[in-house]
Amino acid sequence: MANSAQREGVAAGATLNRDAAPGETLLKVTGLQKHFPIRKGLLQRQVGAVRAVDGLDFEVKSGETLGVVGESGCGKSTMGRLITRLLEPTAGKVEFEGKDITHLGVGAMRPMRRDVQMIFQDPYSSLNPRHTIGTIISAPFKLQGVTPEGGVKKEVQRLLSVVGLNPEHYNRYPHEFSGGQRQRIGIARALALNPKMVVADEPVSALDVSIQAQVVNLLDDLQQELGLTYVIIAHDLSVVRHVSDRIAVMYLGKIVELADRDSLYKAPMHPYTKALMSAVPIPDPRRKSAKSERILLQGDVPSPISPPSGCRFHTRCWKATEICKTTEPPLLELKPGQQVACHHPENFEDQAPQDTVLLTVAKQAAELVADEVLAESAATSAAVAAEVTATPAEKPAVTEKPVVTETSAVAAPEDEAPAKEK
Ligand SMILES: Nc1ncnc2c1ncn2[C@@H]1O[C@H](COP(=O)(O)OP(=O)(O)OP(=O)(O)O)[C@@H](O)[C@H]1O
Ligand code: SF4
Ligand SMILES: [Mg+2]
Repeated sequence: MANSAQREGVAAGATLNRDAAPGETLLKVTGLQKHFPIRKGLLQRQVGAVRAVDGLDFEVKSGETLGVVGESGCGKSTMGRLITRLLEPTAGKVEFEGKDITHLGVGAMRPMRRDVQMIFQDPYSSLNPRHTIGTIISAPFKLQGVTPEGGVKKEVQRLLSVVGLNPEHYNRYPHEFSGGQRQRIGIARALALNPKMVVADEPVSALDVSIQAQVVNLLDDLQQELGLTYVIIAHDLSVVRHVSDRIAVMYLGKIVELADRDSLYKAPMHPYTKALMSAVPIPDPRRKSAKSERILLQGDVPSPISPPSGCRFHTRCWKATEICKTTEPPLLELKPGQQVACHHPENFEDQAPQDTVLLTVAKQAAELVADEVLAESAATSAAVAAEVTATPAEKPAVTEKPVVTETSAVAAPEDEAPAKEK
């Protein structure tokens, strides 16, 4: 937690107006796509495309933290680079503060670059080893042609103290710092121009567990002090669950569920979200004796070059029926604040009967599926439920890969849990 002197420093350095009031839409993305062409032969003819991001619709509200999770290769980093305009979209629209920035050129993007900054996963390779910390943190001023009040050196020292580093160390080199300290340097560089939105791509996954908690806490404190808006990308839910207001779950270039943090944790509706959540160990000693429900997904993530037809998750989903193979489920708001793309969502019987909007959507979903198909789906659900609650001795040996394999390294013990619940 930064001390009050640092907070005053932060306030003193805050020179840009916050145009969007808290809760207003800061970023809006519509039908966003990024297809990377695959070229072959001497003529470099296009023979296909990696559909890394394949139609995203979402908003980020001013002052909130949107967590984005999904397995490796589902397009999270590509999405991050598209919304910061480090990549040019293939299709779709990106609006920042109501302004269409989808195809702005370098010059027109320059003012926007101050408002949106990115923090990268690897604090080792994202800092130039030949530059001092002072040079690294002051680079954004040079790029933007900005001279901070009081001079560059004073501002760099202020930023160092804001992120919890010794201001006297501005002449040192990256190798003199630990991993966590280097990520703090990356954060200081991102904050230099007093941005409105920060996109953090797996900001702590390269760090030790105890250090992860400190860096996540720092991001959380900075958000409250500076009124920042975050998009935090992670490969599983254990990091984002503590700091996100809303969470988007991605699978093969699409958002399959987007919900308020609490709704998502209390009652995930997409089978993939449920599987992701079951893979996160709960660091609660009181629940150690409780049997943990683990859903092990079969097979690997399919290739984004030729994604499965219909629902892209159908090749691994235990609830998949015929319609899942043929018809892509649209992302619909099935409960207030919870959008889901699934023909047979979980936790759907909890709906309020008086909610007519909900009932209409439920009816539409039910009408799409034949009775025998629903019965078959119920039978497979029951079989999976029996399987996951069976004692280990009764269980057949599992050969499939768990959906997330690195969760144990990420989950912190209770006393080190990243950030406090908001
Ligand atoms: N420049 C590129 N050219 C071709 N394909 C790319 C390029 N960048 C990413 N891809 C492909 O796009 C897909 C999505 O990649 P991306 O890095 O966005 O995924 P990710 O969710 O961030 O994965 P990870 O968790 O491993 O970081 C992958 O199949 C990847 O191989
Ligand atoms: S639409 Fe079908 S395959 Fe896709 S997640 Fe829902 S039940 Fe599973
Ligand atoms: Mg990535």
